[in-house]
Amino acid sequence: MTERKTISVMFVCLGNICRSPLAHFIFETLVSKKQLKEYIKIESSGTAGYHIGEKADERSIAVAKAHGVEVKHRAKQLKASDLQKFDYVLPMDQSNYKDIMGLTSRPIKAEIIKMRCFEFSSQPITNENSLDVPDPYYGNEDGFEEIYQLLEKCCVNLLDYILKEKNIAND
Ligand code: 4NP
Repeated sequence: MTERKTISVMFVCLGNICRSPLAHFIFETLVSKKQLKEYIKIESSGTAGYHIGEKADERSIAVAKAHGVEVKHRAKQLKASDLQKFDYVLPMDQSNYKDIMGLTSRPIKAEIIKMRCFEFSSQPITNENSLDVPDPYYGNEDGFEEIYQLLEKCCVNLLDYILKEKNIAND
């Protein structure tokens, strides 16, 4: 088999307990199904440090489980150095995007693309035009199911985008 460079993907929200862990493990499940786990390294983090070391919100764990996705995760905070390390950084909303852009004034390695840029197509719309993945933290379980459905669509299109960009066969 030809040598492949590892691709790295970081999902980001505010607390790293609701949205980004869901996106992380939905995406990881898709990557595993394509037998690409060895080549695509996936993490998630929060722009805030409120929940560092905590497990994902139990409502995120439950909705994922209902769809056959296991969320095994401890929250961590995004670091400026992550922007030099990761190939793709996916903020969930405009506030996350702004916070990420404010972390460093240096040129960064990562492509930073808001998650909902991928809602309808594997060709992302611009960050300026994309909507937010709403924060379900203060809502009820229904909100988590809606977020799951939205993130799943975005993850499918994001994976297509990455595979195309990196010239990896998608079968
Ligand atoms: P997340 O949701 O950013 O999707 O993980 C939140 C979790 C916790 C808080 C806010 C949003 N909080 O304020 O503690």
